[in-house]
Amino acid sequence: MKHLLKLMDLTKEEITDILNLADQLKYEKKNGIEHHILKGKTLGMIFQKSSTRTRVSFEVGMYDLGGSALFLSSNDLQIGRGEPVEDTARVLSRYLDGIMIRTFEQAEVEALAEYGSIPIINGLTDYAHPCQVLADLLTIREHKGVIEGNKLCFVGDGNNMANSLIVGGIKMGMKVSIACPDNYRPDPEIMKWAYENGEFECTSDILKAAEGATVLYTDVWASMGQESEKAEREKAFAGYQINDEVMAVAAPEAMVLHCLPAHREEEITAKVFEEHADEIFDEAENRLHAQKAVLVKLMK
Ligand code: CP
Ligand code: NVA
Repeated sequence: MKHLLKLMDLTKEEITDILNLADQLKYEKKNGIEHHILKGKTLGMIFQKSSTRTRVSFEVGMYDLGGSALFLSSNDLQIGRGEPVEDTARVLSRYLDGIMIRTFEQAEVEALAEYGSIPIINGLTDYAHPCQVLADLLTIREHKGVIEGNKLCFVGDGNNMANSLIVGGIKMGMKVSIACPDNYRPDPEIMKWAYENGEFECTSDILKAAEGATVLYTDVWASMGQESEKAEREKAFAGYQINDEVMAVAAPEAMVLHCLPAHREEEITAKVFEEHADEIFDEAENRLHAQKAVLVKLMK
């Protein structure tokens, strides 16, 4: 594994290896055992969009591993003034040991990997959010004991989260169902792959998608960059919510995950959110442990 651009590039074995290392690093951190595996290494973190979890967990992760992290806002970099990503990649490769980038176009992340000579990590694009899904898989394994055999139901926009959950879920042997309005489906190529490679369903019928689900997942109706579509999306997604009615058709022991930030009473009710807050905040914590494992795998 040279980069983490999208989960489609990883095998089930590579994902499992990351989760196992994450478990070990989490145990060591909880027990005060230092693991300065990346001593002297520097990660650059380019942000073209806002972030709480990704920024803090990568920065703390590098610190825990004995290295350091640089926060590079695109407002301050020349990339924000039009310097080509191909040049940025070649320059930053001379200074850094790895780059995490959060941006709009997946093609920009792929170009960094093509032109740079250091590992590139996708910290969210409009297409994918692989780091989040590694943390999600870690959380599912912790709470359920196993990943395989669970039914993961995602309710809401067929966005970056839906795309990455489909790939991660199917690769790890889960059944995956997506409940979304017809005009907001996940990436067609990813869906085609999912139909061919696992048990997959995409429907506008929320209760059908959620039936028997052991893991329910949702995300905002309007992602970063879609702020101008907010009103239109509120109409389109009305009812695409994890609430008591949806919980009633899911498996009795169903867990609820949300990548955060959450909009209460839109994609999830405050009641369901609070009833499952332990799972959701374990998930947020696991960003740290899962990403440390990725950093070690790529930068050691
Ligand atoms: N879930 C997630 O990526 O959160 P941030 O946008 O705060 O990084
Ligand atoms: N779909 C959301 C995820 C945020 C972590 C967005 O892209 O804004």
